[in-house]
Amino acid sequence: MPVDLFNTKPLAWDSAGLDADTKAMLDNLQPNIVQAHVREHLAVLFVHFDDGADGKRFLRGLLPLMKSARKHLEEVRAFDRSKAPGTPYVGVGISKAGYLKLGHSTTKFGDNAFKSGLKRRKDTLSDPPVGKWEKPYQGEIHAVVLIGDATGEPVAATRERVLALLPKTAQVLGEETGLGLRNAQGRGIEHFGYIDGRSQPLFLADQVAKEPGKNWTPFFPLSHVLAADPLAPRPDRHFGSYLVFRKLEQNVRAFRQAEEQLADSLGLKEADRQRAGAMLVGRFRNGTPLRLHGKPSSDGFPVQNDFSYRDDSGAKCPVGSHIRKVNPRDTRDGGLERVLGVMMARRGQTYGTRTDVPWDDAPPETRPTGGVGLLFMAFNASLQSQFEFTQQTWADNPGFPEEGVGHDPVIGQGKRELKVRYRETWGGDKLSPPIAEIPQTVTMKGGEYFFMPSLAYLKSL
Ligand code: HEM
Repeated sequence: MPVDLFNTKPLAWDSAGLDADTKAMLDNLQPNIVQAHVREHLAVLFVHFDDGADGKRFLRGLLPLMKSARKHLEEVRAFDRSKAPGTPYVGVGISKAGYLKLGHSTTKFGDNAFKSGLKRRKDTLSDPPVGKWEKPYQGEIHAVVLIGDATGEPVAATRERVLALLPKTAQVLGEETGLGLRNAQGRGIEHFGYIDGRSQPLFLADQVAKEPGKNWTPFFPLSHVLAADPLAPRPDRHFGSYLVFRKLEQNVRAFRQAEEQLADSLGLKEADRQRAGAMLVGRFRNGTPLRLHGKPSSDGFPVQNDFSYRDDSGAKCPVGSHIRKVNPRDTRDGGLERVLGVMMARRGQTYGTRTDVPWDDAPPETRPTGGVGLLFMAFNASLQSQFEFTQQTWADNPGFPEEGVGHDPVIGQGKRELKVRYRETWGGDKLSPPIAEIPQTVTMKGGEYFFMPSLAYLKSL
């Protein structure tokens, strides 16, 4: 039976009755796509090949260090049952230029954004000119190797093994080091201090079973992340996924200043001042959704994700806040993110170290203005209709989801000329006088589009 990407039920990957094609799909799919792999410590290597044949040998040589999605899921299960540690994650992506260098044609790839490469999409995405990107990203990147684990030692050892395989005709153009950032409770946060990575599309039955799903259905079909691997021996059972990688630098000081200014403009006092930042993000720092609570709640962990906006025209959670712009959740099963197939699987990691305490209330002047940020990564079945659509049509569009809401306060790019009116109280109707949009505090420093091929393709090289 062909792999059913549009199955309306989550994939029971461990079911005895799984058909042969779906089994083959899982045995040949890279990990971290249908379920996030631990990558608290992460090394990201960007490689350029001078010689295609050597490039092929290198990529094939990585196979003994890699595992399949199924092996990863088995490791997760073993860890949940007995805390048995898993093996490091090694993921490989190839850019359009990379496939050409390896001697392949890219005509069979369906995604036009991938076939253009990120540099040529900069106008679509309102990105800075390529000359302003960090040097490694200005070069021609052919492949990315991701190495991740819970601790630093296995990552360092695996990184050495990867580098030892690199032929003389290949160069590492650049490298990023991702390092998980955690708050006082040990929860993963991003550099502005907010819990991140909570809301994700879920594809697997065991994951979906853990979520309540009364107001928001976290299940999404595999069609959101999988694309047939057109160069694999059996594209009907060998799948991959399109990866967007963007280095997003965060000016934490400027964001904290914007939070303070918004709190002042709205006349928010004492503990209620935290609501200003929550109005920009859509959640309080501890993850509490503004849609459900006007104050940070201590409902425990995992933080709440079972909400929709269908009964909230913006009185509780501003329609222009980050999480509402990038996932409108307007109706339970017929929302835009579902109908248009927009939701992607985010798998980013923070980078850069801090000397301050990222989650506390110390004044903005004590915060970094650069050198820290997010290595934004997401898996897509279509870069054009998922990542690019989210960035361009929603985040960068001051008129989405309605006129006057402004750019996404976290990731919106493009001239910010609007004045925005906010609700003065949580759940109230009274609008503030128009307030200038907060300045852009996230800067794209470079990136690329990749296809994460099937293991069957790598074996065939
Ligand atoms: C959610 C921060 C970049 C898409 C979130 C959350 C935070 C956050 C704090 C809430 C936690 C959660 O619900 O998982 C940031 C920061 C970014 C960034 C600081 C850059 C430095 C991006 C980009 C995109 C994006 C580039 C896509 C173009 C999303 C989506 C969600 C989310 C889809 C989940 C929303 C939901 O389902 O409710 N982000 N983000 N983010 N972000 Fe971002």
